[in-house]
Amino acid sequence: MLDGSVRDGSVRERMPAHRAAAPWQAEPWHADPYVRALHAGHGPLFLRRADGWMLPLDVERWCADADAADRTVLRRCQGPILDIGCGPGRLVAALAIHGHPCLGIDVSQAAVDRTIREGGPALCRSVFEPLPGEGRWGTALLIDGNIGIGGDPRALLTRVAQLMAPDGLLVVEAAGADVDERVRVRVDDGRGGVGTAFPWARVGVRALLHHAHAVGWELVEQWTARDRGFVSLRHAPPLPRSPTEH
Ligand SMILES: C[S@@+](CC[C@H](N)C(=O)[O-])C[C@H]1O[C@@H](n2cnc3c(N)ncnc32)[C@H](O)[C@@H]1O
Repeated sequence: MLDGSVRDGSVRERMPAHRAAAPWQAEPWHADPYVRALHAGHGPLFLRRADGWMLPLDVERWCADADAADRTVLRRCQGPILDIGCGPGRLVAALAIHGHPCLGIDVSQAAVDRTIREGGPALCRSVFEPLPGEGRWGTALLIDGNIGIGGDPRALLTRVAQLMAPDGLLVVEAAGADVDERVRVRVDDGRGGVGTAFPWARVGVRALLHHAHAVGWELVEQWTARDRGFVSLRHAPPLPRSPTEH
């Protein structure tokens, strides 16, 4: 199914030998505060905006087993599943245990290592880089605020559309508040450990649907579980070319 094979947590694939650095490469998620929190399995950890506002990151939940809200997502998965920004990997681990073909991708090697230890296949790669199985993923996940990756939801949603099979399902977790913001943030442990600044976005359900419609996604379902809000989306098929087009 995939260009590369996923076996025992290790991923073999055909990739160009040389990969050039690109401007979106998310060095900040390699920052010590994030790596330390993943090793410890807990926070405190925050995304800190330039104005000092801090968004708490739920590292404990990310490092725990999939919970009841996560299972509402996992139940809806179909076909091979790509977890984008898998973090320490509770979702791919749960999928793999139940025999579902899946892959977690994350730019943080610490996150990927932990995912593999938990039993989930994972690859240290950005969503904006070439990925195995492009155009063939049955489900893609953007959970725990990962619609913020890259700081431009429309660009991310457009990229995800390239990754999906024509009838693929995208499940996105929205922010709890009715927000639509693009910000620069740093990972911050609240005790003086701070990473470098990078672009991030936060979107509530309303803004998420607005951005999604603008780049060709249609709402399939919307639900909440344990105070977390989710939507599933399918991409509209491209319009057929008229007979006069070449
Ligand atoms: C808000 S955390 C979500 C954690 C995760 N869903 C979990 O279960 O722990 C965002 C994650 O996205 C990853 N990330 C950031 N930029 C990325 C990119 N361009 N491609 C893939 N993953 C990325 C970060 O390393 C981090 O693990």
